[in-house]
Amino acid sequence: MENFVFAYPTKNYFGKEAAKQALNAELPKYGKNVLLAYGGGSIKRNGIYDEVMALLQEQGKEVTEFQGIMSNPTYAKVQEGAKLCRDHKIDFILAVGGGSVSDCCKAVSAQAKLTSDLYDYEYQEKKIPQDGIPMGVIVTAAGTGSEQNAGAVITYEEKNWKGALWGTPASFAVLDPYYTKTVPQKQVLSGAFDTLSHCMETYLGTPRQPNLSDRMNEAVMRSVIENTRKVAKDPEDMNARSELFWAAAMAENGILKIGKVTDFQAHMIEHQLGAFTNCNHGRGLAAIQPALYRHLAPAARKQYARLARNVFDVNGEEADDETTLEIALKGIEKLAAFIREIGLPTTLTELLGEVDDAMLRQVADTAVITKGCAKQLTPDEIYVILQEAK
Ligand code: NZQ
Ligand code: ZN
Repeated sequence: MENFVFAYPTKNYFGKEAAKQALNAELPKYGKNVLLAYGGGSIKRNGIYDEVMALLQEQGKEVTEFQGIMSNPTYAKVQEGAKLCRDHKIDFILAVGGGSVSDCCKAVSAQAKLTSDLYDYEYQEKKIPQDGIPMGVIVTAAGTGSEQNAGAVITYEEKNWKGALWGTPASFAVLDPYYTKTVPQKQVLSGAFDTLSHCMETYLGTPRQPNLSDRMNEAVMRSVIENTRKVAKDPEDMNARSELFWAAAMAENGILKIGKVTDFQAHMIEHQLGAFTNCNHGRGLAAIQPALYRHLAPAARKQYARLARNVFDVNGEEADDETTLEIALKGIEKLAAFIREIGLPTTLTELLGEVDDAMLRQVADTAVITKGCAKQLTPDEIYVILQEAK
């Protein structure tokens, strides 16, 4: 077990009509000027906008709208939001949307309080912002768990870079499964796979022998697989949707990462694939992860075999290194079969249509190499993996 200090600042309001409960309890703590941030307009079509606006007005808030936050939010959009905050002397940011809206706002909050450019501050001056405009998130699409932490995944288009910026964590999050009912099924399944991916990437970090976090993680992964299957069959299964919603939060609120250095190599590769293609995050992970894991399993065979046994129900005796690897690889085949079963892309060609090798080379050359991964990959190895995933 690694040393740790654990606390997290986000108060969660979960369940039907949680927005009303949360906003009535939380908004009085903040000033009058609220930035209401959202995406491409789904909240206007499904009625969430009207509900939230009414609650803000009941509390006498002055609302400035920040709309059009795109999937895979851009650095330019972060700057636009930060300018709105400064121009309208915003006291509180309310993000209403999926991971993209939440991420964008976490970065907006930090940028609005900084005189330096946020990216330069973090990546050149190597500093982490200590101040931000307080914010809350009403989550309308489950999966990323973005509302549970301070990391914001932002696409810096001019730099062909998609990566993490440290922003402000939400002081509260609203998770009402009924708010996710209008999410297109394709996105529901992509979000569910993203959650599973976060769990696997946490589990497959160091230390390589199991700790309590891993044991809890196995339960979360089994639950995600079971409930994703239910939602794939019946999108109206609200109990399964609720389970997936809380699993997404659990995967990213830090609890499963206690005492661990996480892996997240698949995410680093997918983020760069996203930087070059703007692909959907969960679908991108689905296309990459089995190929990556086939490559990594020999370097941490016991750990991969444990995943295979305890999450994918693979049986068999581990008599030696070879049989341990066989079990590990069977688990990866079960993961690939699960991806196929729920209709996510199993190859990059399925994900993107035509795949350009020069683009894959750039992805391989620019993906961050992670410390917790079973093996420190080289750009050439990543290129081979991407070719295998093609
Ligand atoms: O833009 P709107 O109109 O809201 O539509 C969105 C969007 O088209 C739609 N949607 C959301 N709620 C809806 C809805 N449609 C109908 N009804 C609703 N209730 O869903 C589409 C996808 O939304 P988006 O927020 O882009 O998806 P997701 O939640 O998967 O977020 C993806 C982003 O999060 C980053 C990803 O890289 C990607 O940029 N991630 C953030 C993480 C974090 N901060 O911890 C961790 C993840 O690993 C991930 O990297
Ligand atoms: Zn993710």
